[in-house]
Amino acid sequence: MTMDYAGLKRQIYDILDIDLNAYKEQQMQRRITQWLARHRLEEFSRLGQVLQDDPVHRAKFREYLTINTSHFFRDQGVFETLENQILPTVAGSGRLPRIWSAGCSIGAEAYSIAILLAEHGYRYREVLATDIDNEILRKAQSGQFVRSQLNALPRPLLEKYFEQNRDIYHLSETIRRAVHFKQHNLLKDTFPRDCDLIMCRNVFIYFTTDTQKHLTHTFMASLKPGGFFVVGSAEQIMNPSSFGLKRISYCIYQKDAE
Ligand SMILES: C[S@@+](CC[C@H](N)C(=O)[O-])C[C@H]1O[C@@H](n2cnc3c(N)ncnc32)[C@H](O)[C@@H]1O
Repeated sequence: MTMDYAGLKRQIYDILDIDLNAYKEQQMQRRITQWLARHRLEEFSRLGQVLQDDPVHRAKFREYLTINTSHFFRDQGVFETLENQILPTVAGSGRLPRIWSAGCSIGAEAYSIAILLAEHGYRYREVLATDIDNEILRKAQSGQFVRSQLNALPRPLLEKYFEQNRDIYHLSETIRRAVHFKQHNLLKDTFPRDCDLIMCRNVFIYFTTDTQKHLTHTFMASLKPGGFFVVGSAEQIMNPSSFGLKRISYCIYQKDAE
């Protein structure tokens, strides 16, 4: 039985709980077609069947579909602003911020923030890191990384917070314990509240414009007045004032005070 893309989308939603209607169609179709070719699956219906029957294929396909690329201190300029301007504002003078890395993948973004908090002796209420993909969250929690994921990390921090064992770099227990990982689907789960800083980077690019707008409004409800919202370098927000935001730096926005 042949199946069209709409049928496959329904099946992916039923099996993987991923609503592909919210993602850019062309890009996703192209990726799925590449997957079919790579695995010698002749058509969408074969993929549907394999996803149903084979848990290993299912996990690999989920990881492929959700695109987990990430690394420590990604966009170094953004991390400089976070370190010199944003963290002193949200965590300075004894304030206890709630920080959320949404679409955290391997946890590199949340761990980078936790390293900066530790470096400056800032306390915090929570560093929360969420992702739709449970497999990647398990990887994140293992605290094990390869060199290429650490290339942007300043050398003194690499030496201070990681221990190398052959090709694997193990993150220190203190930093690992600083981050709270949780599974969370941006398209359907309730958003955490009262955040002082939200980072959602390199996740929006995969969503349709309507979904991006809807999510930005939802993120705003999670952010305290005066809180900060950080996006990826290809995800600049058009007309930030329509979301109650002002752009304060490259990739960084601040919610209006009440
Ligand atoms: C390219 S990674 C971004 C990682 C990190 N934020 C960064 O910028 O380096 C995109 C992540 O978004 C996650 N993602 C995709 N759709 C999602 C959804 N609906 N809800 C939550 N996370 C999602 C993927 O699983 C993936 O780990």
